[in-house]
Amino acid sequence: MTNTTKILNQAVADLYTARIALHQVHWYMRGTGFMEWHPKVDRYMDGLAEILDELSERLITIGGKPYSTLTEFLQHSNIEEVPGEFKSVEASLKRVIDIFNYLVGLFEEGMEIADEEGDNVTNSLFEDAKGNLEKDIWMLSAELGLAPQLQREKTTTALKEA
Ligand SMILES: [Fe+2]
Repeated sequence: MTNTTKILNQAVADLYTARIALHQVHWYMRGTGFMEWHPKVDRYMDGLAEILDELSERLITIGGKPYSTLTEFLQHSNIEEVPGEFKSVEASLKRVIDIFNYLVGLFEEGMEIADEEGDNVTNSLFEDAKGNLEKDIWMLSAELGLAPQLQREKTTTALKEA
């Protein structure tokens, strides 16, 4: 197992968990902005599902085995679940920004590891995914009157289970 396969599998666990967390946000937002953001979060979920599928299939392509059970996703993901509570649209969007920031940090690490191991296809998949989420973070932050604060630190725990 290479570090590239390890970080790809970390992304598989985190993207699956992130998708569930966004489903919670989609259901549990309340207040002004609901009509606009409820469907938009749906589209973010679709976006995460696409990245998840791309990275899982890349993992298989290079000889790895993606996590594929709820137990594995939960066991390996670094995204903490929170109990379902109704929240304002603002609090809901902040949760999305936090999750996306974590993923951007992970993808950054994925790019570096794939690069070190000479896997430029995986590097480019991580790069595309990162660019897309960074754009989403900008838009979500703008909605909240904030400048985008992209996470630059590496997710040091990303390989802890590997
Ligand atoms: Fe829905």
